[in-house]
Amino acid sequence: MKLSNAAAPDAAAPDAAGPFARPEVEALQAYSAPLEGRRGLLRLDFNENTVGPSPQVVAAIRALPADHYAIYPEYAGLREALLANLAAGGLERPLQPAQVGLFNGVDAAIHALFHAYGDRGDTLLTTSPTFGYYSPCAQMQGMAIEAIPYRLPDFRFPFEEIRAALSAEARPGGGPPRLLLICNPNNPTGTRLSPQLILELAAAAPHTLVVVDELYEAFTGDSVLPLADFEATPNLVVLRSLAKTAGLAGLRIGFAIGAAPVIDRIGRVTGPYDINSFAVTAAHAALADQPYVDAYVAEVCAARDWLVAQLQAAGVRHHVAGGNYLLLWPERPAEEVERRLREAGILVRSMAGKLLLDGSLRVSIGTTDQMRQFWQAWQEVQP
Ligand SMILES: Cc1ncc(COP(=O)(O)O)c(C=O)c1O
Repeated sequence: MKLSNAAAPDAAAPDAAGPFARPEVEALQAYSAPLEGRRGLLRLDFNENTVGPSPQVVAAIRALPADHYAIYPEYAGLREALLANLAAGGLERPLQPAQVGLFNGVDAAIHALFHAYGDRGDTLLTTSPTFGYYSPCAQMQGMAIEAIPYRLPDFRFPFEEIRAALSAEARPGGGPPRLLLICNPNNPTGTRLSPQLILELAAAAPHTLVVVDELYEAFTGDSVLPLADFEATPNLVVLRSLAKTAGLAGLRIGFAIGAAPVIDRIGRVTGPYDINSFAVTAAHAALADQPYVDAYVAEVCAARDWLVAQLQAAGVRHHVAGGNYLLLWPERPAEEVERRLREAGILVRSMAGKLLLDGSLRVSIGTTDQMRQFWQAWQEVQP
């Protein structure tokens, strides 16, 4: 059989670069983040947990017998464990295990959502700036991207614009968006949108899958889950992760919660063993130790208040809303401040090139001691 690729400029000529991929993939740049060489430094650059997971997680992983490494992972009981954790947290409406999808991190859930739902020519509706992985996922499917900027004062959510863009009339001949991605609170602006308004959007757009990325919900309590009725609103999907609050970012485990048929469709485009046994073991232990997570979240919120008080007293331009992060506008060029903080052993993230945020730094919040360390270094590099 002769293989060819119609999109390749000269498909007949063999090339040292090997056969061409799909046109969408050829046009894509790999999504990369500066994740190397960070160990041993104060990590305020990826909104991670800065102290590590519950000791119960560590004990559970250590207790895994070596012969279990040779066995494919088992997922039985993990969906139920998440539901028990949510119910203990006050979620009154009972959810079924079939309404929970398990993924190798929320990144993998996002990828699967696009893979299952995003077709060539479909539209992704989202906001800008927002979490950086939505766009490449849309691009790899050949989707059009409509990203509404956070132009309102204080980076408020552009609700009216999103509502208008959800209607089919917004794109004559094109139909409604296939996917709406709402990061709530938004990374990196911290923008919060009330769960009632999210439900309003979902109810008004039954042909659009409305995905609410709640990675940082623990820091605001704004979850749409207590209000969500997935039978009545089957076009709503909520994403949750144990990466940031429970401290399992390196193990990779995330959840998608929604109507059972939707979760089933998303699950069809994942591999059978995508989540490894260490992540499963860690997730069980982390979900069973909610007091540890609650204490960490409370500590981060206290540290955020402490830092904001210093910023206000010193007159540093900043923006703080939801999430375990805030934005700072240094007097000196952001890249220079980022580099000098790194020399002082502290990692933060420059927002250079991000719409509306050029010149700012995103600083993750850790413990109060860590933020004291940050504030000391900031004052030294920002005289
Ligand atoms: C908004 C948002 N969604 C998803 C992710 C990825 O989460 P996970 O580590 O569970 O893949 C991140 C990570 O930074 C994020 O900020």
